[in-house]
Amino acid sequence: MRQPDYPIEPLILNRWSPRAMSGEPLSDDELFPLFEAARWTPSSYNAQPWRFVYAKRETEAWRALFELLVPFNQSWVDDASVLVVIASHTVFVSNGKPSPTHSFDTGAAWENLALEGAARNLVVHGMQGFDYEKAKRVCKLHDDYVVEAMIAIGKPGKKEDLPQDIQEKENPSSRKPLKELIIDLNEKS
Ligand SMILES: Cc1cc2nc3c(=O)[nH]c(=O)nc-3n(C[C@H](O)[C@H](O)[C@H](O)COP(=O)(O)O)c2cc1C
Repeated sequence: MRQPDYPIEPLILNRWSPRAMSGEPLSDDELFPLFEAARWTPSSYNAQPWRFVYAKRETEAWRALFELLVPFNQSWVDDASVLVVIASHTVFVSNGKPSPTHSFDTGAAWENLALEGAARNLVVHGMQGFDYEKAKRVCKLHDDYVVEAMIAIGKPGKKEDLPQDIQEKENPSSRKPLKELIIDLNEKS
């Protein structure tokens, strides 16, 4: 059980990143609300730099995204329903200048997506263990986009079906104490 230092919205506290998934397909009606949640994320100048390149497991493109993953991630992502590459537009469309906050904005969009998934009892698991350069090529991204991360999405599965070493990790983790994360400038020497 996660224990917050202060009471917060249960959805935020209870979202976590399971790896056990059932392999069942997700319909567009089940999947697209997650992208819709990301769509309403605030961003600098409302530039909305996030892009989500996805493939469902029953489609031809699935293998190309699956093969980007490191072997550890492949060992559990096998039972996901959807793989997503998250990319971010590094420049403002309005003036072509670099956006200092594109990654920040896209990170916020990922969290909205993850929270919506948690609210719908779906597994949403972020990943950095994959080939970033190859992902950019496979997703046919223009030079002014960067690949930020991948996501595995699926319906919850059985912990017992995971490889043994991964079963041991299948628990919500805790966090650093709040006092390590916030700094009162008045008290900083
Ligand atoms: C950007 C990002 C990259 C991650 N990369 C991986 C990964 O490659 N493989 C993996 O099994 N988990 C990965 N994770 C899951 C994190 O380990 C997990 O979110 C973290 O331990 C906190 O746990 P929680 O999400 O259950 O609260 C990633 C999470 C994020 C947000």
